[in-house]
Amino acid sequence: MSERALILYFSGTGNTWLMADEIAKEFARRGVQSDLAALEQVPRNLDTAPYSIVGIGFPVYAWCFPSNMRRFLKRIPTAQGKRAFVFSTMQKSSWGSEALTARYLERKGYRVVSARAFLVVNNETIYYGPADPCDPWTSKMIENMKAQAPFFVSEILSGKGEIERNNALQVLASQLTGVGFDLLDGYLASRNFRILENCTRCGLCERICPEANIYESLTTPRFRNRCLMCERCVNFCPEKAIVHPLRRIPYTDIRYQAAGYRPPRLRRPTKKALEPNVDVVPELVTENE
Ligand SMILES: Cc1cc2nc3c(=O)[nH]c(=O)nc-3n(C[C@H](O)[C@H](O)[C@H](O)COP(=O)(O)O)c2cc1C
Ligand code: SF4
Ligand code: SF4
Repeated sequence: MSERALILYFSGTGNTWLMADEIAKEFARRGVQSDLAALEQVPRNLDTAPYSIVGIGFPVYAWCFPSNMRRFLKRIPTAQGKRAFVFSTMQKSSWGSEALTARYLERKGYRVVSARAFLVVNNETIYYGPADPCDPWTSKMIENMKAQAPFFVSEILSGKGEIERNNALQVLASQLTGVGFDLLDGYLASRNFRILENCTRCGLCERICPEANIYESLTTPRFRNRCLMCERCVNFCPEKAIVHPLRRIPYTDIRYQAAGYRPPRLRRPTKKALEPNVDVVPELVTENE
């Protein structure tokens, strides 16, 4: 059977998408067909049977994977020895998050042949401030990240890669900070985002939020408490109108979007108050505009 790869990734602002896309291109150069799938668009009844290789990619949050990836890893279809690989993109360090992901996959029967973290730039606006997408240094970091795809794909296809930082301490540290972050981010982020007066009620933030965490964006955006803290809404708001009180950057400062990345439009923006049913997730629609 010829090889076919499925690359499942989550990307808040495009770095992980860029790497996923580069890996897909590298597969293609070697005659391996691959499909890319953004996590927020993956159907619940995902079928991995047609694929001989499954890849999982994510941005590192608090030295771990985002909470939507944790939920997905728990429900990913089981496999009997299917080859798998893991990649993350990060600003600085990921502890054992790739090895932790590999362990989740191995529990589901996958054979993880390579799990690696790729250094790129920060997209986070609250604590450190994001990289400037127009800075030549940002482009250089992105090119450096993409340049590692050939070596990574060689590892995957040969089945002789490495699982980085695959030791119990690193994996435990990642698991602990990840769980802690998942518990806190709803409080720190979604309850505390502020909408500035220059918001034009365009609805984009609600359309692109991967967790349906934003509603009433045609009136004034409001937030539920199931935020991933991916900061997609903050970075893609055309008016830079979403801020956080803990931010270190001023209102009008830089936002990060990886060149060429356009987040999927996931749902129609809403106008009317949904209360008292605020916990009802609006129906997901894919709009190819
Ligand atoms: C909430 C949050 C937490 C982050 N935590 C880390 C971290 O622990 N270590 C790190 O190296 N980068 C961290 N980053 C940076 C991102 O992992 C990095 O910019 C990533 O490439 C973003 O990928 P994306 O553009 O696909 O969303 C964090 C970013 C955010 C938004
Ligand atoms: S994307 Fe920005 S301007 Fe548009 S509705 Fe959301 S907060 Fe307002
Ligand atoms: S509210 Fe913003 S930061 Fe939170 S999940 Fe949605 S897009 Fe990401």
